[in-house]
Amino acid sequence: MSLSPAPSLSDDIACSDPVLQDTLVLGIESSCDETATAVLRRAPDGTLTLLSSIIASQDAAHRPFGGVVPEIAARAHLTVIESLIERAVLDSGVSYSDLSAIAATSGPGLIGGVITGLMSAKGLALSLNIPLIAVNHLEGHALSPNLSQPCPFPYLLLLVSGGHTQLLSVNGVGDYTKLGSTVDDAAGEAFDKSAKVMGLGFPGGPKVEHAAQSGDANAFALPRPFYGKDHADFSFAGLKTAVARAYAASDQTPKAQADLSASFQKTVCEVLVDRTKRAMTMFKDSLPSDTENPQKPFRFVVAGGVAANRAIRAALDALCEDESFELLAPPLKFCTDNAAMIALAGAERFALGYTDPLSVKARPRWPLDEIAAEENPSSGSGKQGPRS
Ligand code: KG4
Ligand code: ZN
Repeated sequence: MSLSPAPSLSDDIACSDPVLQDTLVLGIESSCDETATAVLRRAPDGTLTLLSSIIASQDAAHRPFGGVVPEIAARAHLTVIESLIERAVLDSGVSYSDLSAIAATSGPGLIGGVITGLMSAKGLALSLNIPLIAVNHLEGHALSPNLSQPCPFPYLLLLVSGGHTQLLSVNGVGDYTKLGSTVDDAAGEAFDKSAKVMGLGFPGGPKVEHAAQSGDANAFALPRPFYGKDHADFSFAGLKTAVARAYAASDQTPKAQADLSASFQKTVCEVLVDRTKRAMTMFKDSLPSDTENPQKPFRFVVAGGVAANRAIRAALDALCEDESFELLAPPLKFCTDNAAMIALAGAERFALGYTDPLSVKARPRWPLDEIAAEENPSSGSGKQGPRS
């Protein structure tokens, strides 16, 4: 996606000069099953201070269904969003009148939830007479390592969550080059569905990780889609089906659950490492050969909910060691969905002078590298545009 200056909120709502003063941004996240709000301060030199961050998980509401139910999610966001906004402002120690802008996830995600957060943000921006910033949820994840330490551009990003699995070169705010993505399911989806077929519960990722701790990772031989291929795409649908078949054919004891979880997790680790290794070569090749400014070690960031998995982090850590990349991973609390990363992406866009009109729409699909996705959608396209 390349940046083009978005129109300002309206003619009579001017953006204060964001570069010369501290900015205070309220972030709102509601694209899946977490309602989250946060207030972040950005100093003119780019220093970030997170003043508050609140997350209300909907796990209990979705657990009986073994997955996220969009209608339940939308209603649950609506129930808590107002009080969460109030708490984020209260906890931050600032008042509404101190806020410089409101940033809200505008996609991609479950449309009912995205609309809930975005409409709340619009209402607040209008009543406070401050700008609205429509944030791409994926950009939040992409910039999230900066919440704990400065992470200079460019860097290679592996974004692994429940809805997305992609490898991108992050060149700057709003400047992404997609190197690979899943052609079917996301890695998190494979964790969630594998947990479901094994009866481990919801959310699947942490359940599988826990079960895997006592299992034998070599007990089941599972397929490794695209392993060794000369591109950086992923495929997880076949692996998910293989887990379902293997479990159905097993004695379905706790030992079978543990062994299959360990085998599945090991396979995901191997696939992620193999695809990332390929993308590391592509990333290095794409950098200008500037001998006066060799940017070594190269930086690699892993973000998104699946990045909370300790086995996956360890495997990627070892890969980085081998390939002379520095691994920068957000702390676990910023791997899964949160509003701090949305406030951060909003603050960075605001610092560059970008705001959005109140007419901005919620988008169920919104690839980060929009132009490339439109030209070559690797994971399908439809009325709502390319998926990733
Ligand atoms: O980033 P996220 O909170 O939401 C999306 O944007 O999708 O990611 C949620 C995904 C879920 O599929 C969840 O099962 C997975 O991240 N996840 C994990 C772990 N913790 C969360 N997967 C594997 N191991 C974990 N420890
Ligand atoms: Zn996410």
